[in-house]
Amino acid sequence: MSEFAPRVFSGVQPTGNLHLGNYLGAIRKFVALQESHDCLYCVVDLHSITAQLVHEDLAGQTRSITAAFLAAGIDADKHIVFNQSRVPEHAELAWIFNCVARIGWMNRMTQFKDKAGKDRENASLGLLAYPSLMAADILLYRATHVPVGDDQKQHLELTRDIAQKFNNDFSAKIAALGLGVPMQVGEERVDGFFPLTEPLIEGPATRVMSLKDGTKKMSKSDPSDLSRINLTDDADQIARKIRKAKTDPNPLPETVEGLKGRPEAENLVGIFAALADRPRADVIAEYGGKPFSEFKPALADLAVSALAPVSTEMRRIESDPAEIDRVLAKGGERAREIALATMKDVKAIVGLL
Ligand code: TRP
Repeated sequence: MSEFAPRVFSGVQPTGNLHLGNYLGAIRKFVALQESHDCLYCVVDLHSITAQLVHEDLAGQTRSITAAFLAAGIDADKHIVFNQSRVPEHAELAWIFNCVARIGWMNRMTQFKDKAGKDRENASLGLLAYPSLMAADILLYRATHVPVGDDQKQHLELTRDIAQKFNNDFSAKIAALGLGVPMQVGEERVDGFFPLTEPLIEGPATRVMSLKDGTKKMSKSDPSDLSRINLTDDADQIARKIRKAKTDPNPLPETVEGLKGRPEAENLVGIFAALADRPRADVIAEYGGKPFSEFKPALADLAVSALAPVSTEMRRIESDPAEIDRVLAKGGERAREIALATMKDVKAIVGLL
């Protein structure tokens, strides 16, 4: 083999409703990457039981994320769409990675610290090992690129650390079995079994903030539904939420620099730019100096025209759960073929008969 073939993997947890932040920050990028890469898009149901074990309707949430993928334009025939628990090799490789990763690495993860809160002793062991399962998701397919929000950067670094330690610790065995793939690590050319996966974090709206507080991320767990635009909101709801979005009393600035220190203005301009697929400077050139009372209706129209077709299609797809299950079953089979081939090599490398 010469170099790792470019491959994209990403995962979304089936917890809560998808919102504009997930759409602009993740799903829309997943759609675009289909043109240039082989992609696997996974609903990571095993991750969703790390923070909270019992969910009211986990299966329904898994179907709903799948429906959002399909409605946004992910092609489940050309690429692979599936849910994680269908491919048992995710958990199998995660176990091996639990023995590669060090407890100290896990303890340093900011997401773990945030989610575990003050009472770390009482967090599930799965929550601590979450990044190891995430590394397994990615490396099971030897994915080279992972589109994620910037909050996942640290987990991607950890994925690289796990790949590198595995490659190093087993280098003799990998070479003996002829399973090494040449790759560049810093200045050096080395052979490794797992690639050092790169995050793909770009675009003007990687961080979509709350409509009620421009300093907080838009979140499915915010108690106020007015703080976010859900992918399932209809045209009236979208327009109403934008009308009620928090702003400051000044008109929009004449320059992009003028957005500094005005988080709400910056967020709304960022959302406009992302939805219109135009640079912020362009949006400012058009709306700079104008009051929010003029900008908001334009933003609402844009949001409705971009999102309403997705939410309509999502509702249509969700009305046929059996069809969603067929998509996931077929995607799972195709994913598993790749996963089994990787695990066969991993077992040979580790010495598991
Ligand atoms: N941790 C990711 C998030 O919370 C979800 C995830 C799990 C993921 N496995 C992944 C993302 C693999 C990218 C690749 O958003």
